[in-house]
Amino acid sequence: MRALVTGVGRGLGAAIATELAGRGVTVIGTARRSVAPEAERSCTQIVQLDLADRSSIAAAIDEVHTMGEPIDVLVNNAGLDGRAVGASEHDRGPLDIDPDVFMRQIEVNALGPLLLSRGLVDLLLAANTPKIVNISSQLGHPEVVLRTGRDVGYNASKAALTTTSATLARELPGIIVVAVHPGWVRTDMGGPDAALGVEESAARLVDAMLALRAEQTGRFLDVDGNPFAP
Ligand SMILES: NC(=O)c1ccc[n+]([C@@H]2O[C@H](COP(=O)([O-])OP(=O)(O)OC[C@H]3O[C@@H](n4cnc5c(N)ncnc54)[C@H](OP(=O)(O)O)[C@@H]3O)[C@@H](O)[C@H]2O)c1
Repeated sequence: MRALVTGVGRGLGAAIATELAGRGVTVIGTARRSVAPEAERSCTQIVQLDLADRSSIAAAIDEVHTMGEPIDVLVNNAGLDGRAVGASEHDRGPLDIDPDVFMRQIEVNALGPLLLSRGLVDLLLAANTPKIVNISSQLGHPEVVLRTGRDVGYNASKAALTTTSATLARELPGIIVVAVHPGWVRTDMGGPDAALGVEESAARLVDAMLALRAEQTGRFLDVDGNPFAP
């Protein structure tokens, strides 16, 4: 089995790559720049990919095609919040958001995964039970946003990723496409107070992705593969 995981340089992406490799899956990782030592060990190849740059996405798609092998699981994990684009806590709210910050989050969190997924459809369809797992967020769900989370660009981009997953699922009946909330996880993005350790989230996510069934396609799931409950 072969998986492609985006954003293996740190955080959840590095942990998912490690978990998959530990279960005997061949992992191709993508990174913008530096790669964590554990990801270097768990990935057979690292492809350079910046989801904010369409020429980088096209080059990564070409590079994966030159490998000439089917892809069983595509994990669109890489993503960012407003802080990663330089917005302060204050600047991330709906009344203050810089349009460029908003659009950068849409570009990286929603459009990038769509462009990468569609560029790899032929390699996915060459696998036996292909899956696209989009790491979305509960903050893309309006019921959750009514309680917490005022990074409007992040919320909108994750809502877009979740609905893009369902749209792709309808278009591609041969591929199981899901969006998943990984839990609140202790990474650079989640911070030190988050509920789940990164290895625990990754282990549960990998259990869920390997067990995905055709009838789950298009759904928004929690870290254990159950329907997400806001
Ligand atoms: N942590 C949580 O509590 C939580 C909760 C819900 C959802 N999520 C989602 O889970 C995923 C992983 O998050 P994390 O917690 O591991 O975050 P993180 O520690 O901040 O890591 C983010 C990853 O995304 C990559 N990335 C950022 N911008 C990119 C770009 N333009 N092109 C390609 N890669 C880019 C980063 O690469 P660089 O090292 O090059 O910056 C890094 O590998 C994200 O999609 C996030 O939205 C996280």
